[in-house]
Amino acid sequence: MSAAAEKAFGYDECRKTADWLLSKTRARPKVGIVCGSGLGGLAEVLEGREVFKYSDIPNFPQSTVPGHAGQLVFGTLKGKPCVCMQGRFHLYEGYSVQKVTMPMRVFKLLGVETVILTNAAGGLNRDYKVGDVMILKDHINLPGFTGVNPLFGPNDDRFGTRFPSVSDAYDRELQQVARDAASKLGYADFLRQGVYCVVGGPSFETIAECRLLLKLGADAVGMSTVHEVIVARHAGMRCLALSLITNISVMDYDSREKANHEEVLETGRQRAEHMEKLVSTIVSQLVQN
Ligand code: HPA
Repeated sequence: MSAAAEKAFGYDECRKTADWLLSKTRARPKVGIVCGSGLGGLAEVLEGREVFKYSDIPNFPQSTVPGHAGQLVFGTLKGKPCVCMQGRFHLYEGYSVQKVTMPMRVFKLLGVETVILTNAAGGLNRDYKVGDVMILKDHINLPGFTGVNPLFGPNDDRFGTRFPSVSDAYDRELQQVARDAASKLGYADFLRQGVYCVVGGPSFETIAECRLLLKLGADAVGMSTVHEVIVARHAGMRCLALSLITNISVMDYDSREKANHEEVLETGRQRAEHMEKLVSTIVSQLVQN
């Protein structure tokens, strides 16, 4: 990452983007939501919606993936003001990890305190089934092992400290709120809690890679979320992340199964309503600081 590219998503640029949004809406959300592949329907159920296309927002990246709408939606969920990214950015789109995570810094400057992220993921854990929802209790930042970390480069103390801890990346209270919301809704049967491993994509994992990730301690694998969480935590926001298990990772050389994006989107469609209800119930239970 060149110094020039890092600077393009520095404090001043993020401030400019946030101030532009604050000048266009009277909404002052404390909750930010990031919708994963096929899960953007949540943004449609917000009330009193104000929509900003990413292409109209100064400095904002553009979404290029089918299943990701590409707009920022302000509105309320069960009376609580939220801002929702309907479509996120991924490394495999060719964006730098700084660009992928820039919206988290904009969230922070908008006044967001809690971030809820959803994603689609492959199930590595052999007990998982398609349609399960996993609360992230931890992550493995595999690209981070080779230096792909959004906090690489000069640190800006206005966002956070040079060496942030991420052993508490996924807020324990929020995980409890999510578990309670799931049991209240009768979703306990398909609720899981586990470790998410991020990979660069866009090719899905080989059989050997899936076996490796399982041995490393991952329960699910996907191409997002972790970098956003690192930046959100750096800036002091609380995080909750939920994976929808859209496919079961293939680990058997005799299997004819293979992961594909259509299956990911189809599972998203089938579970969309459950995910929306779960997230709105969680939001309704949030105690604002
Ligand atoms: N691997 C990586 N990312 C994914 C998968 C997968 O199997 N399913 C949905 N996103």
